[in-house]
Amino acid sequence: MSLLQIENLSVTFDGDDGPVHAVNDLSLAIDRGETLGIVGESGSGKSQTAFSVMGLLAPNGRTEGSVRFDGQELLGAEPKLLNRIRAERIAMIFQDPMTSLNPYMRISKQMTEVLTLHQGMSKRAALAESVRMLDAVKIPAAKERIRLFPHEFSGGMRQRVMIAMSLLCKPDLLIADEPTTALDVTVQAQIMDLLGDLQQDFGMATILITHDLGVVAGFCERVLVLYGGRVMEQGPTEPLFAEPTHPYTRGLLDAVPRVDDADAAMKAIPGNPPNMAAPPEGCPFRPRCGFAGEDCRVMPPLAPFAQSRARACQRPVAEVTA
Ligand SMILES: Nc1ncnc2c1ncn2[C@@H]1O[C@H](COP(=O)(O)OP(=O)(O)O)[C@@H](O)[C@H]1O
Ligand SMILES: [Mg+2]
Repeated sequence: MSLLQIENLSVTFDGDDGPVHAVNDLSLAIDRGETLGIVGESGSGKSQTAFSVMGLLAPNGRTEGSVRFDGQELLGAEPKLLNRIRAERIAMIFQDPMTSLNPYMRISKQMTEVLTLHQGMSKRAALAESVRMLDAVKIPAAKERIRLFPHEFSGGMRQRVMIAMSLLCKPDLLIADEPTTALDVTVQAQIMDLLGDLQQDFGMATILITHDLGVVAGFCERVLVLYGGRVMEQGPTEPLFAEPTHPYTRGLLDAVPRVDDADAAMKAIPGNPPNMAAPPEGCPFRPRCGFAGEDCRVMPPLAPFAQSRARACQRPVAEVTA
């Protein structure tokens, strides 16, 4: 049994101009200790997929399908169960750590409360454990700095605090939603290195959500490419990056700046992601796709090919069989 199994998830919001189809018939599974990347441009449905798992959708959103965590159905589950799972088993970190940190409370209090309230630890033990966790995320002089307020840390350090806090409960699953997007490139690399080390040390399954394929390359065993709230292509990271078959995957990869070839022209995908209140008929990528034909007016199913790969495309840009 997979640790997390999402089946045929759809997320629809009540919008001013009618329903917004943010996620459409999405299925994915992740095992214990596995690393999965979810990539796609802004508006692809990445965050809403994560929010559905966490039971954190905006009030105007509703879900269909199934999200099972360790065998337990989370969609429509009692708030009590969701609270417990969020406190003990699934942790989430965001692009902006201030979404989760209280600006008026010292880090020490925010961290120790997680342990005293949810794990019944004594204050003293909780403080020791919190300092240990700040050490683990390489915050210098953690013992003193744990007394500070969030704003007294830099952006990168604040994200480290957030990561430390998310790991306090020793989650089975960590969902990191654009964890480095707000940081400058050097700090970004440091945080990803750190996350990689922690993932190895703690062995938690990790879903890394990002619009940046470069970030996924070094971190994830498997990747899922999302567009218009649908899975376009998925598979093991290396072969998927080496030989993308979906025109959208290829487009995303062509848009990644390359360190090894400064002259290579970076080609952004022309056009913009679809308005999910009025999505195109058939494949959502059709209006921007250089390979589309009439047959793309029907959404193809996600069909398996090669080794553990799958794609939803009638007009693949490469035939891969191995
Ligand atoms: N509360 C909401 N009401 C209406 N539409 C929403 C709401 N939240 C998100 N959306 C829409 O859902 C789609 C997917 O959003 P999201 O999952 O946040 O994208 P991303 O891939 O950038 O994380 C977008 O078109 C977004 O505008
Ligand atoms: Mg997002």
